Amino acid sequence: NKKLILDCDPGHDDAISIILAASKLSNLNIEAITTVAGNVEVEKNTVNALRVCDIVGLNDIPVAQGASTPLFRKPEIAEEIHGETGLDGPEMPDNPNKKPVDQHAVDLIINRIMASNDDITLVPTGPLTNIGLAMIKEPKIILKIKEIVLMGGGTFGNWTPAAEFNIYVDAEAAKVVFESGAPITMFGLDVTHQAIATRETVERLSEIDNHVSNFVVDLLKFFIKTNEDVFDMDGGPIHDACTALYLMDPEIFGVKHVRVDIETKGEFTYGMTCVDTLGVTNREPNVHFAHQLNHKKFWGLFEDALSSYSD
Ligand code: BDR
Ligand code: CA
Repeated sequence: NKKLILDCDPGHDDAISIILAASKLSNLNIEAITTVAGNVEVEKNTVNALRVCDIVGLNDIPVAQGASTPLFRKPEIAEEIHGETGLDGPEMPDNPNKKPVDQHAVDLIINRIMASNDDITLVPTGPLTNIGLAMIKEPKIILKIKEIVLMGGGTFGNWTPAAEFNIYVDAEAAKVVFESGAPITMFGLDVTHQAIATRETVERLSEIDNHVSNFVVDLLKFFIKTNEDVFDMDGGPIHDACTALYLMDPEIFGVKHVRVDIETKGEFTYGMTCVDTLGVTNREPNVHFAHQLNHKKFWGLFEDALSSYSD
């Protein structure tokens, strides 16, 4: 079984990704969850991660809070998509049962990787601040990371015309990670915009009817509405869930090995991921870039994973 550290800012789609990875059907071991400032403030993201752990019964793994601001810039938040709590929609207790550990996320990441047999996969689904900081604080982790499977970037943007939210929030941290040499598989908007949950999806999922699937249904109702309002699209892309489904079944996705560089200076392009799809740079490929998904397999596994939770 793959060993994962989920580094996230839950976040509706982050929450769904955790739920899929934690399902009985999954062949994944979640070793720890770490949180970062992103969709909302890091404290709120931590509370949300703990709430999700309570819901799926992830009682024994550590949840560690991480960076409250990007490396060099002020935080940006995405309340218009995720609501004031970061996880608006479902009814949840104010205070989760589960408590975070005392350790900082960056130290947890470093300690776990250094103590590992080079078999830990990092799964960042928020800004890359914690991962960048961990690489700066202990560069020896870089050679020991099995893989980084992340959601971020793309050949178009959703925060600016050029940049996707996770990369835009901390492009300097993203630059550290993308230039580190660690193996990266990237789920950017090109592929996540093929993973759209619609009202029909919600109807289908409602039929599963266990406490976890019903939670996901409530998440999706809110998330679809805000995505439709903000982006004028039909449904909502469940971006981060692509990472968990890829780890459960890589065959769902089409992936190309390409060069991706992070723009940190541009007037209009800060936070852009420059994806060299045609190989014009002659630079060494550093990213397995997911560009395509099989809908039938994607939604089949999604529904099976939710059905594997029983009440
Ligand atoms: C990313 O930004 C966040 O709002 C989502 O959780 C996802 O990680 C999509 O751009
Ligand atoms: Ca996220």
